Amino acid sequence: MMTWSSNSLKGLWFIFPMLLVAAFVVITNPQGSIWLSTSNQYIETLNNGSSTTENQKDETQNVTKSSTAPKRYSKLEKLEAGLAKSRAAILRENKSWNNNQTEEDDQYIPHGPMYLNATAFHRSYLEMEKKFKVYVYNEGEPPVYHFGPCKHTYAIEGYFIQAMEVSKFRTEDPNKAHVYFLPLSVTMLTQFIYVVDSHEWGLMKNTAMDYVNVISQKYPYWNRSLGADHFMLACHDWDNYVNPFSDVLNWDTFAITVPVKDIVNLKKILLDIPQEKYLEMQKRGIQMRRHFEVNSPPNRYDVFHMILHSIWLRRLNFRVHDEDEF
Ligand SMILES: *[C@@H]1O[C@H](CO)[C@@H](O)[C@H](O)[C@H]1NC(C)=O
Ligand SMILES: *[C@@H]1O[C@H](CO)[C@@H](O)[C@H](O)[C@H]1NC(C)=O
Ligand SMILES: *[C@@H]1O[C@H](CO)[C@@H](O)[C@H](O)[C@H]1NC(C)=O
Ligand SMILES: *[C@@H]1O[C@H](CO)[C@@H](O)[C@H](O)[C@H]1NC(C)=O
Ligand SMILES: *[C@@H]1O[C@H](CO)[C@@H](O)[C@H](O)[C@H]1NC(C)=O
Ligand SMILES: *[C@@H]1O[C@H](CO)[C@@H](O)[C@H](O)[C@H]1NC(C)=O
Repeated sequence: MMTWSSNSLKGLWFIFPMLLVAAFVVITNPQGSIWLSTSNQYIETLNNGSSTTENQKDETQNVTKSSTAPKRYSKLEKLEAGLAKSRAAILRENKSWNNNQTEEDDQYIPHGPMYLNATAFHRSYLEMEKKFKVYVYNEGEPPVYHFGPCKHTYAIEGYFIQAMEVSKFRTEDPNKAHVYFLPLSVTMLTQFIYVVDSHEWGLMKNTAMDYVNVISQKYPYWNRSLGADHFMLACHDWDNYVNPFSDVLNWDTFAITVPVKDIVNLKKILLDIPQEKYLEMQKRGIQMRRHFEVNSPPNRYDVFHMILHSIWLRRLNFRVHDEDEF
């Protein structure tokens, strides 16, 4: 089931704000796998999706022909076909597109070795902006649901929940959604439900499970995918820490990752970095800063969009089937 780490939750009170961006997306599938906790490389991830691209291309064509074809395609099939098109567009080599940006000057274009594949990321990001739709369940009352504290250093959950509510990525029609958002704040759960130092994690887990029960009774979407296209935010499990946005960012080019056990040697590690390398990484770090910025309302390529993009990328990787397809 969902994993809640007492370390991660307690850690929230101390951690360095920049790392808080890692307050992260948990996909609540019944196997309990945490989506963004494996550092799949971007292209690996995409290529995996592409193994089905050929079939889906067929299907896309079939869908476009559907007005004349006898088979009627469900909303879900059309949605999946749209994703297949995005997948293909991201993977397609398109030199002219790459070198001929039509965007205006004030619009950021990802470039440089800080990205695992800047072109693919750019393309994927634009596809997301064009298509991605998120359904936010209305069930649940603030403050545990639909709300999260926004004024503290650990505010990323609350910020995302509130920004999502008014986002253009939100759809009111669950049939048009690619993913489903459980607007549940782990931080608020800890404040309202978890009795400090009681170690009653079971109570919090039950609250989240109750929520899942309610929406899986009321809507068909959870059962359809066993929750795999559902997500919620939770602070990251620090016992298994992965840098945020490792699905697109090449952290080694602009950051030094220091394992906890080496923190005592931090000064030496930092002094050992040659001046030239230091300046280069600093420059790259400044370019990467936009991806960690919290803006209200959100700006393109900022932390809100990067979290969304991680979810989008994950969603591109698998298909949801109608029940009668089985
Ligand atoms: C590709 O997807 C399959 C099944 O969806 C999974 O078992 C496999 O680990 C994935 N490979 C990579 C490289 O992500
Ligand atoms: C699309 O249609 C073609 C021919 O009409 C068929 O061979 C193919 O299996 C169909 N693809 C899918 C995914 O239904
Ligand atoms: C980046 O991704 C594109 C597909 O969008 C691919 O054609 C290209 O080979 C990739 N580049 C690198 C350096 O992997
Ligand atoms: C770039 O795009 C413009 C139209 O937007 C086109 O006229 C021009 O030929 C393109 N250049 C290249 C190198 O493809
Ligand atoms: C390449 O990109 C250009 C500009 O976005 C687009 O018009 C064209 O259709 C793309 N070509 C392919 C093969 O995707
Ligand atoms: C989803 O599955 C659960 C457990 O099997 C069941 O109780 C529930 O009624 C199902 N929901 C819908 C909408 O069919």
